[in-house]
Amino acid sequence: MIFDIKEYKTSKERIAEAANNPDAPKLYVETYGCQMNVSDSEVVNSVMIDAGYALTDDVNEADVIFINTCAVRDNAEQRIRNRLQALNALKKKKKGLIIGMLGCMAERLKEKLVREEQILDIVAGPDAYRTLPQLVKQAETGQKAVNVLLSRDETYAEISPVRKDANNVTAFVSITRGCDNMCAFCVVPFTRGRERSRNPESILREVKEIISEGYKEVTLLGQNVDKYNWNNGEVNFAGLLRMTAEINPDVRIRFSTSYPQDFTDEVIKTMAEYDNICKYIHLPVQSGSDAMLDKMKRGYTRDWYLNRIRTIKKYIPDCAISTDIISGFCGETEQDHKDTLSLMEEVSYDFAYMFMYSERPNTYAARNYKDDTDTETKKRRLNEVIALQQKLSLKSNEKDRGKIFEVLVEGYSKRSDKQLFGRNSQNKVIIFDKKDAKIGDYVNVKVNSVTSATLLGEIVK
Ligand code: SAH
Ligand code: F3S
Repeated sequence: MIFDIKEYKTSKERIAEAANNPDAPKLYVETYGCQMNVSDSEVVNSVMIDAGYALTDDVNEADVIFINTCAVRDNAEQRIRNRLQALNALKKKKKGLIIGMLGCMAERLKEKLVREEQILDIVAGPDAYRTLPQLVKQAETGQKAVNVLLSRDETYAEISPVRKDANNVTAFVSITRGCDNMCAFCVVPFTRGRERSRNPESILREVKEIISEGYKEVTLLGQNVDKYNWNNGEVNFAGLLRMTAEINPDVRIRFSTSYPQDFTDEVIKTMAEYDNICKYIHLPVQSGSDAMLDKMKRGYTRDWYLNRIRTIKKYIPDCAISTDIISGFCGETEQDHKDTLSLMEEVSYDFAYMFMYSERPNTYAARNYKDDTDTETKKRRLNEVIALQQKLSLKSNEKDRGKIFEVLVEGYSKRSDKQLFGRNSQNKVIIFDKKDAKIGDYVNVKVNSVTSATLLGEIVK
């Protein structure tokens, strides 16, 4: 296969070259939160390697430590504050060690952070990563360095991410940044700024590059991928999906996250049309109650959402569907909660991410509603949601017993080096005996037994 890509260096080559320079200062990056943060840390790696740094896995030998953070729930922030505490000892031991906080928590708290957390030398928001080398220089002079400017157009389009912890099989490629949806509970529009789309040429180039390195699966990333829009509609999300799917039929395409209101029939039909677009949709519903959905400012109703699900099932009968649920949002009644449970049953989700509502300062909900569901009730409802999903996941997996799936091998199973794991198109994890399969292979696996979390099977010819 011939690619129209220019000479470029792979992540491995760039990491090795940087490591070859004995004088290179060492950078350690720790990433919390969503896939977008994982992808952003790869941009940070790239920017810092270009500035002469080498990457390290060992926090003890680092000259610069970056913590890429999440702010979506309070417990995410508490975890990060605890981590900073733990790094204090290291900071005391090592003179000149620079510690920076990046990402959403940095953006949310801004300058306040360098006062609250003495350990921090740098605070940089998600749109400030090109300036990290300058921020480090400033910090080296003993000044605190803060850049939390948000941008309307930054997409890091031409920066080739350095994928350090990659398995060389699956990769994330970011296609949009920011979010304009302003769901009432969500801090992301404040921490990641306005919605913007990355130039499709740079996306396709990056996808072709990583395919040439041997990657077999690409996940297109954005807070709301359905809003992808280049040049006033010249390329929409369905168009971009089509273009990436056509690069190579042996390379799988996934995407995340979809937004019910913006998820078009055109996207569903495009998924149905291409075998290599995976049959899996993450379509966060948040609640099954119209009153809650309205208060959450989600812009759709329960009926409308269920209609989306019916359309998906009509065009893609074998499509797996997952969701996000928030339990205990402001004013949630027992009936609202029951509506969520009944919607979950009705859709029969294959998988779900489930959370207790956590009030985030300055969001619409924090400014206008009372966080009035007590913690006990939030916990109890969340537990009911989790218990139901476990049942639904098991039911979904039971249906796969005896079926044969094409599985892309991603790595060794945690339990044994005689077993591999991979995913089917529906994004389900399958574990099986290795035989002569290798990481990166497609193999056909017959499912023999299941739990609510995984499928167990064997390779068949
Ligand atoms: N569109 C984004 C959503 C980011 S937040 C994406 O790309 O996935 C991920 C999930 O966290 C949301 O779907 C929601 O279920 C949950 N969440 C967001 N804000 C929350 C809050 N204040 N409390 C609890 N859960 C929240
Ligand atoms: Fe958050 Fe809603 Fe956007 S959940 S990321 S404001 S789509």
